Amino acid sequence: MSLLTVENLRIELALRSGPAPVIDDLSLSLEAGKTLSFVGESGCGKSMTALAIMGLLPDVGRVAHGSIRFDGDELTTLPDARLREIRGNDISMIFQEPMTSLNPVYTVGEQIAEVLRRHKSMSQRDALARAVDLLDSVRIPNAKSRVSAYPHEMSGGQRQRVMIAMALSCAPKLIIADEPTTALDVTVQAQIFELLRDLARDTGTALILITHDMGAVAEMADDVVVMYAGRAAEVGPVHAILKDPRHPYTQGLISCVPHLKADPTAAREELTEIPGIVPPLSAFGTDSCLFASRCAHVHDRCLERRPPAFPCPAGQAASCWLKEDT
Ligand SMILES: Nc1ncnc2c1ncn2[C@@H]1O[C@H](COP(=O)(O)OP(=O)(O)OP(=O)(O)O)[C@@H](O)[C@H]1O
Ligand SMILES: [Mg+2]
Repeated sequence: MSLLTVENLRIELALRSGPAPVIDDLSLSLEAGKTLSFVGESGCGKSMTALAIMGLLPDVGRVAHGSIRFDGDELTTLPDARLREIRGNDISMIFQEPMTSLNPVYTVGEQIAEVLRRHKSMSQRDALARAVDLLDSVRIPNAKSRVSAYPHEMSGGQRQRVMIAMALSCAPKLIIADEPTTALDVTVQAQIFELLRDLARDTGTALILITHDMGAVAEMADDVVVMYAGRAAEVGPVHAILKDPRHPYTQGLISCVPHLKADPTAAREELTEIPGIVPPLSAFGTDSCLFASRCAHVHDRCLERRPPAFPCPAGQAASCWLKEDT
């Protein structure tokens, strides 16, 4: 059963030049307990999609069309009070830089306890005891004493573990992690991904993982949404997306990661990035394939009309005219 279903979502931003779709016709679904990854270059709308699901769009943004259904509720029309309830209890989010989400003047234990008192009506004593358990579960050594530490007394990796503990504290059904390791050392990144994966598995929590790290996607995701310029270029099971990518954009992204190729030694080309850049936001509404200017397979049709999603044999759907006949 689907926990989260996004259908034909269009989010518009009020720009000086007028409203522009930052997300256009995006559909995806996530089953309870599964992990879905959003990948794609900077500016393609990954965080905006996450914020829309959380009901935390910036003031200039609005859902112009489509639906976001979560666990029986239509989030796009839900009153703010109910949305806040869902945000505290059922969906939590982990951001890139834990220092900006943690309050420097309270101990980490007090901050975790505060979440529990607010959402679970626990007493301070029970909440602090639970905070120790939670720090233990995110593998912070000496949790009993570290619960009294201030954020600045912890390493970046430990602070991110505290954020994960906080995200888990109310036993949510969905955790959205938006580039949770970008601010961390490479070795720590791997540990945080591993921790997230293990915890999501053990607790049956669904996870939306936004990352540039295709290795992490391969390790963790069940399904992938490849986003390009506010649209889904390709959506499907992780094995199909990584082993048999059908959209030229996905193929480009994957060819940037040599160790993911079926035969790394076979690829001798020096390609380390896709030539060109993501079009400006003001062009996101154009009725053409937005990848056309960077695509080696571009065809007249790509410039005339945007491609719909075509189903592919390996199980994914690719929004590319090349796939029309498959
Ligand atoms: N508050 C805002 N006001 C105006 N434009 C915004 C705002 N927030 C984001 N944007 C624009 O919306 C587009 C999508 O941004 P988004 O943050 O979702 O990208 P992203 O895929 O998360 O990128 P990154 O990988 O860099 O995090 C970008 O063009 C960005 O500049
Ligand atoms: Mg982002």
